[in-house]
Amino acid sequence: LELKMNIEQIEKGGYDHFMLKEIYEQPRAILDTYRGRLRADQGIIKMAGIDEHLEKFMNANRIIIVACGTSWHAGLVAEYIFEDLARVPVEVEYASEFRYRNPVITNKDVLIAISQSGETADTLAAIKLAKEKGAFVFGVCNVVGSSIARETDAGAYTHAGPEIGVASTKAFTTQITVLTLIALKLAKEKGEFSESKFHEFLTELETIPAKVEKALESNPLVEIISDVYKDATNCLYLGRGYNFPVALEGALKLKEISYIHAEGYPAAEMKHGPIALIDDQMPVFVIATKKGHYEKVVSNIQEIKSRKGKIIAIVTEGDEQVTELADHVIEVPETLESLSPLLTTIPLQLLSYHIAVMRGCNVDQPRNLAKSVTVE
Ligand code: G6P
Repeated sequence: LELKMNIEQIEKGGYDHFMLKEIYEQPRAILDTYRGRLRADQGIIKMAGIDEHLEKFMNANRIIIVACGTSWHAGLVAEYIFEDLARVPVEVEYASEFRYRNPVITNKDVLIAISQSGETADTLAAIKLAKEKGAFVFGVCNVVGSSIARETDAGAYTHAGPEIGVASTKAFTTQITVLTLIALKLAKEKGEFSESKFHEFLTELETIPAKVEKALESNPLVEIISDVYKDATNCLYLGRGYNFPVALEGALKLKEISYIHAEGYPAAEMKHGPIALIDDQMPVFVIATKKGHYEKVVSNIQEIKSRKGKIIAIVTEGDEQVTELADHVIEVPETLESLSPLLTTIPLQLLSYHIAVMRGCNVDQPRNLAKSVTVE
């Protein structure tokens, strides 16, 4: 037993939990994921799985993304990226709903399945269904040689390394990285991007690991904020555009490991219901970065403030307007709007981690949850 404990200590590499280790591995994991694929100096993105099947993607009527849990949130971010940059229609589906609702699938569809483990039963079943109907199926998996990796027609691995903590962190950001590479490649091939715009994206993507590192520097502040809100019974997470899925993911992380009820919402939908929940007991986490509908989010924040909600905002470095209104602000470096989820998600991961630790929860193995769900 002692030996086992020692081995585990070594595996955690000096961190108290795998989750924290994996959060801190993200700069490296993102770099490993685009290394060899992204060649900013030459102005190219090389991905064998896409290069070999480019015509499938170019001729696709639409892309259907299927996934579960955190991977589904990565799919939602990808929907914004693909539609915005590559101008391809995208639908994002929970694998478990998709497979049972007699979906319309044709051989002009490309289905992208996203799965860290590559073993999720519902996602696997959705793939089989899409294949039967003639769709081209592409996998984005982390675990090499997993069932989904084998079942798909082609794919691209995330190179996040083993993810042990049940709550997914580095798998999420590396999934977004792979999907961004694909979207950029398609945007270029389809002529949606000029050389200079393409180049701007590639060089900015190369700065992301260092910017994630910077975002991680918010950790001591996030810990202080966590201590203030650790006893909350409900929390709201709001974001718009690219950062709406980040709000969903932030809420999921808190639910999973801290057992606090949390909901993610598109900020503008607040007025259609959740606003009724806001009082002086309600912490509201708002992603309010400069490039994402900033003025609109500022007015959402004002609505929360006038109802005495507590506002914790994720803002761009040097922000003034939201900083004045919010109870707490956490800064992340500036980047292109479409890459911002890779940064805004970091403090939310740290927040759920610290709150879970403070509440005495089993961070790496939360109750009732499994790392990979192989039952339907
Ligand atoms: C489980 C895990 C989640 C994960 C989901 C999908 O519920 O606890 O962290 O997001 O499965 O897993 P996958 O391996 O398909 O990404």
